Amino acid sequence: MSIRLGDEAPDFTAETTQGTINFHEWLGDSWGVLFSHPKDYTPVCTTELGMAARMKPEFDRRNVKVMGLSVDPIESHRGWEKDIEETQGTAVNFPMIADHDRKVADLYDMIHPNASDTMTVRSVYVVGPDKKIKLTITYPASTGRNFDEVLRVIDSLQLTAQYSVATPVNWKDGDDCIIVPAVTNEQAKEKFPAGWNEVKPYLRITPQPNKVKGETKAA
Ligand code: BEZ
Repeated sequence: MSIRLGDEAPDFTAETTQGTINFHEWLGDSWGVLFSHPKDYTPVCTTELGMAARMKPEFDRRNVKVMGLSVDPIESHRGWEKDIEETQGTAVNFPMIADHDRKVADLYDMIHPNASDTMTVRSVYVVGPDKKIKLTITYPASTGRNFDEVLRVIDSLQLTAQYSVATPVNWKDGDDCIIVPAVTNEQAKEKFPAGWNEVKPYLRITPQPNKVKGETKAA
């Protein structure tokens, strides 16, 4: 089953390196990132897990919980985690699903048979506090993910959930934003007291609302 933006994130209960976890309960009111690894003891995945562990404070700051998945058993995960700590300088500090029966991989369509019958691709799912899918990215096994990009999109998702803005090309936290077309200029005066630059009637650039001193009006 393919998973689309806005779908409810399929719930599951799975064995992980931090015990048995029910996904929705574990998420609680947090955002979540669920990402898959083709196989244990593979070099690219080793670097990815080290990086995701190093970036945990950045995920925490955004109220995001991280969970990895690989289709190998728990004993294999535990041995691999020792290698990750040794080679990447950080212990894996989030749960890793031992999906040896591929229950979760199948639920999230992480095995793409034209790529491999046995290994998952590198899927990334971002889930909102409403348990809805907010982002999907699929990388091939041979390309390591860019977790800065995952964080950048989360910043955009969290901002646009609160304010009537969209974020332009290559936007990063602190950059100017775009007032969404559904907001009239009359409404924009109220919502964006810092003003905007009307490049075209459909392209109105405003400072990032939650970075403007004294600006408090969300939505
Ligand atoms: C890796 O994680 O290093 C990897 C996994 C599958 C194919 C190629 C690389």
